[in-house]
Formats: sequence, C-alpha cells, structure tokens
Amino acid sequence: MSHVYVTHRLPGERIAELGQHCDMACWPGPGLLPADALRAAVSEADGLVCLLTDRIDAGLLASAPRLRFISSLSVGLDHVDLAAATARGIAVGHTPGVLVDATADTAFALLLAAARRIAEADAFVRAGDWRPENAWSPDFFLGRDLAGATLGLVGLGAIARAVARRAAAFGMRVVGWNRSPRDVPGVEQLPLDDVLAESDFVSVHVALAPETRGLLDGERLARLRRGAVLINTARGGIVDEVALAEALASGRLGAAGLDVYEREPLAAGSPLLSAPNTVLTPHIGSATALTRRRMADLAAANALAALRGERMPHCANPEVYG
Ligand code: DGY
Repeated sequence: MSHVYVTHRLPGERIAELGQHCDMACWPGPGLLPADALRAAVSEADGLVCLLTDRIDAGLLASAPRLRFISSLSVGLDHVDLAAATARGIAVGHTPGVLVDATADTAFALLLAAARRIAEADAFVRAGDWRPENAWSPDFFLGRDLAGATLGLVGLGAIARAVARRAAAFGMRVVGWNRSPRDVPGVEQLPLDDVLAESDFVSVHVALAPETRGLLDGERLARLRRGAVLINTARGGIVDEVALAEALASGRLGAAGLDVYEREPLAAGSPLLSAPNTVLTPHIGSATALTRRRMADLAAANALAALRGERMPHCANPEVYG
C-alpha cells in the first residue's frame, strides 16, 4: 500500500477518505512540521500532502526516492522547486479557483482599511485617545475616497479579476497589467510603469516566480503616485519591503495594506512594523472556513487521483504525464 504523509491536520471529509486508499500519516502538531521531520517523513513516502509553509527544495526531493506526487493546499507553489520535481517525474498538485473570492475580499478589506485608516482609528479609540478635546472635527481622521479613484492591478489572474469586480462596484476606474496581455472587460490594459504612474491604489496579484521576484523594487515603487496606496495579498517576495517601508516613512507612499511578506512570520525587526499608515495581516487571504475546506477537498482530490495513477485535476507540471 502506498504511504502518504500529510504535513498538517486538514478539514473536511475528503482528506479522511484519502486515508482509506493509502497508508496515511499526519503530523500531529502542535504548530508547523519542522524541516527535519519533513525530511524524515518524505524519505519513505510515496506521496506528500503539504502546506505553503513546507519548503520543498531540490535537496529535500533528492532525499525522497519513492516520492511520486506532491499535493499542496495552496494555489501558489513558490515553496516547491517545480523544476526539480518535474525532473524527478513527481506530479505537483495545487488548489486554484476555490480561494478566488476569499482572497479578493481580503485584498479589498485591506484596501478599504488602508484608505479609511481603520486600524489606526481602532487603536486610537482603544488607547483612550478619543476625548472631547480630540474628537470629531472637519479634518478628523481624513482618509481617501474610492469612488472616482484609479485602481491598478499588477497581474490579471482570477483573483485580480475578482478584485476588479469589487472595485467597479465602488465606482473605481480599473487599469491593469499582465505579463501576457489578457483581455479583461472593465479593465484598461496598460504597460506596468503606466499602471504604477496612473493609480491611486495598486493591488499586487502575480505569482511569485523568478521573473516576478522583486518586481516592485525601489525603482518601480518610485514610479507610484505621491500618496498612493499599495496592497499585497500575493507574495511578499514580489515587493521590496525595505524600499516600501522607506517610501511609507518618507510620506511618498500614502499607505499600505499587506497580507504577505518576504519571510513569514514577519520578523520582529521588520521596518514594516514601524511604517506609518500600514495595515498588516498574517497571510489570511484565503482564511475562511468554507474556502479552507474547499482547498482541502481539492488537495485530497489531487492526491487521490495520483494514488490511482490518474492525472491530478489541478496539476502544475502536467509535462510529467508525458
Ligand atoms: C495560496 O494558496 O497560495 C494562498 O496564499 C493561501 O492563502
């Protein structure tokens, strides 16, 4: 019987069903599976069901001689060395589609929170600073309008398009850029530098890959409008965090809403923690109970197909099927 290792307890029934088709072991926790325990687990596994927090590099794959498939509970696969997996004939599954709306909601929540200073206002009330001498006035806690503003989308995949629909409902003009041009109704396509220069709000939606690492570096961030707001729910490595923190501290950028970071959890010394007008959330883009159950179901479906010797419904390296 095939041996499948699952690196975290997952919700839903389909993952339990998977256990009926293989010899399945699961990291009991608490917390995330440590790297050395992952290495020990894959050395004997035929299949792996993992999270985006499990780093699966070429070295790890070299220590997994029996491994035939990896099924990740994520749409992003920057934690997996896809080329090394393909070279070894290992099919890699992921979970696109089911997290589109939840992640678009998070992007829009960050956009609204950054535009209207929600986290700052909440902290102000809790700190007891809302006193008669420091209360409602015509210039009290002024934020930014969404209606009539321009939203620039960096990347035009499914999540970006869901954000565009939300932005249209708020009366925003939407412009966007994609690496390969893509016709999206309601979104004016522009070169990346023009998207950055024309937008009041910019939301990042490209996958992290060698071509997109550092895409929004210091030079590109300098192209943003003075006072612009940057939202990132994609991956931290796409934005230069030091340059972003500097742009916020100097007031060149007006605000930021971030859910993802170069290193997660965010290090205690990160300059983003002291950057002004910044709303920070801990990678919760797809964190709703229903979405996580759907992701677990899809991860289980990918694993089950692989166990049966069939094509995974969502395989990121279909070339392994020849
Ligand atoms: C993913 O699936 O890649 C997301 O980042 C999870 O929220």
